[in-house]
Amino acid sequence: MKFSGLVSCLAVASAANAASVKKCRNDHLPTTKIANVEVVWTPLVQDAVELIKAFIPLQPYLYGHLMRSWLFGAAALNNNATLKAEVDLEAHAIGTLLHDLGWDMRPNSPWHSSDQPFEVDSGLGAVDFVKEHKLSGWSDSRLEKIYDGITLQGMGSYLPGKNFDTKFIVQSVEFEFPGPRSPLIKDADYDSILGEYPNDTVFRGTNETFTWLALTKPNGTRNTFVDFFGTSYVPGYGPQGHLGFDLITQGLHNEVALYPNATFVSHLH
Ligand SMILES: *[C@@H]1O[C@H](CO)[C@@H](O)[C@H](O)[C@H]1NC(C)=O
Ligand SMILES: *[C@@H]1O[C@H](CO)[C@@H](O)[C@H](O)[C@H]1NC(C)=O
Ligand SMILES: *[C@@H]1O[C@H](CO)[C@@H](O)[C@H](O)[C@H]1NC(C)=O
Ligand SMILES: *[C@@H]1O[C@H](CO)[C@@H](O)[C@H](O)[C@H]1NC(C)=O
Ligand SMILES: *[C@@H]1O[C@H](CO)[C@@H](O)[C@H](O)[C@H]1NC(C)=O
Repeated sequence: MKFSGLVSCLAVASAANAASVKKCRNDHLPTTKIANVEVVWTPLVQDAVELIKAFIPLQPYLYGHLMRSWLFGAAALNNNATLKAEVDLEAHAIGTLLHDLGWDMRPNSPWHSSDQPFEVDSGLGAVDFVKEHKLSGWSDSRLEKIYDGITLQGMGSYLPGKNFDTKFIVQSVEFEFPGPRSPLIKDADYDSILGEYPNDTVFRGTNETFTWLALTKPNGTRNTFVDFFGTSYVPGYGPQGHLGFDLITQGLHNEVALYPNATFVSHLH
């Protein structure tokens, strides 16, 4: 059965375009239902869900946030077959389920570097997780898509030139942002997802986690949006680190000292 399925799939793919190849890849993935939402359920995805269950004792809000990001995204995809055919569903699952590994507050977390933003810790952790499985079919390009989706999670305005998979990982995380419900997701799906994974402490948890990041690794929060949690809540953290501004200003002073007579015409005034 499996073999004949594969053969027919290849025949269709070879006769058609790249979009059919993508669709074909998704068609052969096993699925299950979680919170009444159909999702892909490969061994890799099952392992990712197991992995984040480790957050439940200390940070139950984190587990809920990761599950909802995946499920909201999957619900939106199930609601639009065109959209669904465009997305690498397994990469989407991994990219959403593991997008905040760097929030892990357990002592000895494998994803808590001393000097990198949590998005980078999370992206590297997700890529390592996939690589450790030694699966065929995980090209550098697929790995890069999940890495990009995770590291760009808070930078939606930088996405326009990116591939659709990366964009949709970020879009799925954004479904968690405060605001009205998205028209891409059915109300029934919102209700069943929030019923099973309530969002009633996600912002208290986020506030605490970001403060903890500023406290435990200021070098990884400086010059990111988490900086504000350090300046607001961490005694001795110091003032806001406008690193980019400081760097340019320093260069400017050096430049004026070195080339006092160079011609520069300002067009601001
Ligand atoms: C489904 O998604 C496609 C691709 O993004 C979009 O062009 C189309 O308008 C959507 N259809 C509906 C019914 O929302
Ligand atoms: C949390 O879920 C409720 C519905 O249960 C919703 O009204 C609210 O907007 C959500 N909160 C955020 C911050 O998304
Ligand atoms: C946010 O976290 C900080 C640091 O733990 C805490 O002082 C503050 O009260 C928290 N804010 C709210 C509204 O819970
Ligand atoms: C943080 O960065 C500064 C400046 O690069 C460095 O001197 C310091 O050792 C770093 N601290 C930690 C804990 O990595
Ligand atoms: C800049 O111009 C002034 C006045 O013409 C001159 O005295 C000075 O030597 C020049 N400095 C350099 C670094 O060329």
